[in-house]
Amino acid sequence: MPHDHSHSHGNRPIEGRHSNRYDRMARLLMKPVYRKIAKDVAASAPQGATVLDVGTGPGILLRELSRLRPDLHLAGVDLAPDMVDHARRNLDDRIELHAADVAALPFEDDKFDLVVSTFSSHHWGDPEAGGAEIARVLREGGRLLNYDFPRAPFKALTDNPGLTSVRRTPFSRILKATRFEAAKQA
Ligand SMILES: C[S@@+](CC[C@H](N)C(=O)[O-])C[C@H]1O[C@@H](n2cnc3c(N)ncnc32)[C@H](O)[C@@H]1O
Repeated sequence: MPHDHSHSHGNRPIEGRHSNRYDRMARLLMKPVYRKIAKDVAASAPQGATVLDVGTGPGILLRELSRLRPDLHLAGVDLAPDMVDHARRNLDDRIELHAADVAALPFEDDKFDLVVSTFSSHHWGDPEAGGAEIARVLREGGRLLNYDFPRAPFKALTDNPGLTSVRRTPFSRILKATRFEAAKQA
């Protein structure tokens, strides 16, 4: 379960025993949270949109999204190969998954209509570089939807000419999560 740990894992990936525990918790306990986020993302996704989940972990948001919106073309990346293995087991194989850093995304320019991320950006070692990469892979007019704790580096993500902050609003009182939305200029 995501928790706002000021002691932090830094930008180290969650691996091994910890990734097993995270996978179990995300699948069992956090379903209502991912359902709520998936509904919110689905409301912003055009028909047949391409959507990338950055720091997807065990892929539970992608699973909820694919149930809710089978028309979407979904992809996920995570820095930890272990997490990508969990995601592969949790998801059907039409969903493209890669072990990759947000600062070096393995996709061509302008590929995605939406980039989403949940409880990951506070781990990113270089959020400025992550924001620039997200801007590169978004098409013009595409959106970033990032759900994370209030101390996440939201501002750093738009510290590049490609992404403009749109709004920042409270999302979940239980998890103390913030919803941050940014757009790639048309
Ligand atoms: C708390 S987990 C959240 C996982 C999932 N999004 C969720 O909500 O259950 C944070 C994830 O971010 C990943 N992560 C950390 N730094 C990253 C980076 N630089 N690029 C991509 N993923 C990263 C970690 O490996 C971990 O799986």
